[in-house]
Amino acid sequence: MCGVEPLTSLTPDQRAAVLALADAAADADGVAPLNEEARLQLDRDGALHWLALQDDVVVGYAQWQPGNATGQLVVHPDHRRTGHGTSLFAGLTADVAEPAVWAFGDLHGAQRFAASAGMVPGRGLHIMERTLEETAPRDTPEGITLRPFTDADAEAFLAVNAAAFADHPEQGHFSADDLAIRQGEPWWDPEGLILAEDAEGVVGFHWTKRHDDRTGEVYVLGVHPRGGGRGLGGVLLDAGLAHLAAGGNTRVILYVDAGNTPAVALYERSGFRIVHTDTLYRPAAEE
Ligand SMILES: CC(C)(COP(=O)(O)OP(=O)(O)OC[C@H]1O[C@@H](n2cnc3c(N)ncnc32)[C@H](O)[C@@H]1OP(=O)(O)O)[C@@H](O)C(=O)NCCC(=O)NCCS
Repeated sequence: MCGVEPLTSLTPDQRAAVLALADAAADADGVAPLNEEARLQLDRDGALHWLALQDDVVVGYAQWQPGNATGQLVVHPDHRRTGHGTSLFAGLTADVAEPAVWAFGDLHGAQRFAASAGMVPGRGLHIMERTLEETAPRDTPEGITLRPFTDADAEAFLAVNAAAFADHPEQGHFSADDLAIRQGEPWWDPEGLILAEDAEGVVGFHWTKRHDDRTGEVYVLGVHPRGGGRGLGGVLLDAGLAHLAAGGNTRVILYVDAGNTPAVALYERSGFRIVHTDTLYRPAAEE
């Protein structure tokens, strides 16, 4: 069973055990239980970790990300319904006042578990997908140029990101360190981070991510409020899709807040369809 005290870092063996556990759950459930940020947090300072052990083997894991005020929780498929999830959640609740937890794919088991833990559905995150067969680039609006990111653009890029996502719980806090970490990832490609510039400088961007030969991602698409209303979102979207298609991708996915109606509408017009929805469960409000 897990100790109630959280760990502030993991040993390499613990990290490997958590990744193996997450892979086993992904195979069984058809959806990964830990997202990119949680995987990155396994070997960085800042997150809290709880391990559930059975015969000294890691059979469950919970992580809390203070910066995002969200947690993630997974139990090995062969060790479910024996109280490990409850014990991990008790660990979270002991240290965190509002223990909101992501349920990726909002699986039936997660829904039942969340209900039994006294949690209710909160924010939703859609995963959308389309094929890349027909990508016709649009005309770039007057006074706008598109070009790839260079290291000299980091500050301007971060400023536009912060303005575009001022109300977004995670993306609005994306920092120079967060950018540097992505630049160290194998998929980093400055050509895949397309900037839109007007007379005042960078005004928008489409950051694409190539997962493998088949699948690409609209990783982040952002337009500064001063550039709104000129169709820049659609222009940047198409430029990024054309980049992914030129590199051989035939399928593209993206994550978007279910409540972000204008963005969901933009993606639907471009042919994206919702594949599934992640749900952030939060404690039910006290009556
Ligand atoms: C959700 C998850 C963490 C539950 O872990 P677990 O160790 O099986 O949970 P517990 O054994 O503590 O279950 C506690 C209660 O939740 C409910 N529950 C859990 N899984 C359930 C399922 N598949 N069907 C119905 N009820 C379920 C039951 O009421 C259960 O009590 P019971 O077994 O006495 O009936 C696990 O299924 C998992 O890893 N899922 C994939 C990752 C995920 O979705 N995480 C998000 C959680 S919000």
